[in-house]
Amino acid sequence: MNQKDPSASAGSEHYIEEARRSLKARAEAMRRARRLRFDTIAVHGLYTVDEALDHNHGAIMEPTVLSSAQAYRDSDEMELALGYKIPTWCYTRIHNPTLGFLEDKLALLETYGSDIKAGCCVYSSGMAAIGNTVDALLALPGTKPPNFVSACQLYGGSYQLFDARMKRERGVDVRMVIDTSNIDEWRRNIDKNTRFLYGEMPSNPGLAFFDVAAVAALAHEHGIPFVIDSTIASPALLRPILHGADVVIHSATKVMSCSGLGMAGAVIARMPITSNIPNDELKADFALYLKRYPQREQGGCLHPFQATMTLADLRTLRARVDNWSQTAMAVARFLEKHPGVLAVNYLGLESYPLHEVAKKYLWLVDAEHDQNYGKPVNRYTHMMSFRVKGGAEGTRKAFDRLNLIWRATDLGRVKTVATIPAISTHLLQGEEAREKADVPADLVRLSVGAEHPDDIVADLEQALSAAK
Ligand SMILES: Cc1ncc(COP(=O)(O)O)c(C=O)c1O
Repeated sequence: MNQKDPSASAGSEHYIEEARRSLKARAEAMRRARRLRFDTIAVHGLYTVDEALDHNHGAIMEPTVLSSAQAYRDSDEMELALGYKIPTWCYTRIHNPTLGFLEDKLALLETYGSDIKAGCCVYSSGMAAIGNTVDALLALPGTKPPNFVSACQLYGGSYQLFDARMKRERGVDVRMVIDTSNIDEWRRNIDKNTRFLYGEMPSNPGLAFFDVAAVAALAHEHGIPFVIDSTIASPALLRPILHGADVVIHSATKVMSCSGLGMAGAVIARMPITSNIPNDELKADFALYLKRYPQREQGGCLHPFQATMTLADLRTLRARVDNWSQTAMAVARFLEKHPGVLAVNYLGLESYPLHEVAKKYLWLVDAEHDQNYGKPVNRYTHMMSFRVKGGAEGTRKAFDRLNLIWRATDLGRVKTVATIPAISTHLLQGEEAREKADVPADLVRLSVGAEHPDDIVADLEQALSAAK
């Protein structure tokens, strides 16, 4: 790095003026990006030709900034940066330019099809994103101990976070809704100390689904935000912010990073969120608040190399979600007719009780502008679960015979993966909680990947012949 002449300090005004210009250019780039189609945003985000030529040697891919920290030109710039008076990334635990490209892209994709503004804060995993969000919404001052109301059908890790860590270890009043399609059950649990409503949709592995607009409206009636984990649907099928949600959480480890090389999480929050917390900064831009304070001090930051891998996988999100959803539909239809299968939970099956509400919300983005479709098209995700005849033992027998399909606690992968949630993802929450969340011992979760459907079906066929 060049030695600086100490007498040549550019001065605070210069840096503030430079920041003004860069924020203006960024707002203009955002405006331009908002006019693009979903696929184009997924490919480019805010990384433009001008940006590449000005700052990245013309490289057509976003820079992976592998550096723990950013250098400043002088003490004026350092002070302004660390006081958040000018845009900066400082230190990779606080921010990093590669993370910025991922955050801009995710905020644009989650608000696609609307004028709603949102911010994004990425994390080292989905659980870090959930933990930080919930903590931030509970932590602020209030006269009475706060509570929150959550759907009971959750990914096992989220359930454990709420039940074991928050409720039993810290005494937080966590109120679980068993029947999420019953709006009165949500309503009954809310009081003046409720800080937020929380849901997961479609839920993993039970495929619970509810009327997101109705729950968001209920939250807003009480002046509180609705937080939703939308990992399984992804913005290619559902953008909950457009239906009133305040905060969307993703385990970006899953379909967004489908190659399966690492972990990532994301929080995307509308600006502003509805909240009864007396903190204007938190309400105005919740994602930025998370980044500047709780994440900075709790340290769940994403590695820039992982951000690059997630950026790469995201470019093909819509096409993959479309293709895998169609394969999942074919597999679900096969399972539905199979004599060795007791029940299939797949949102696309007309026989599934939540099909109608899923049909209302799950639409392949831009199908009406797609040369293959030219009209709106429903798609129902890559995830299903099914119950095998022969109880827990028969289920394990069939599961152990899978050849092509991987036995692993994973999903949203380019490879088809299966697990038995009762002995894996939902093992720690215990029998009673599994019963409430409808996770029986004979349930198999299947996440369909990019293989040909014939081969997935053939593997299931031979495996199920063992269950009888
Ligand atoms: C719906 C859902 N949310 C959150 C998580 C947690 O994400 P991560 O594994 O990235 O921490 C998972 C993981 O399986 C999940 O399925």
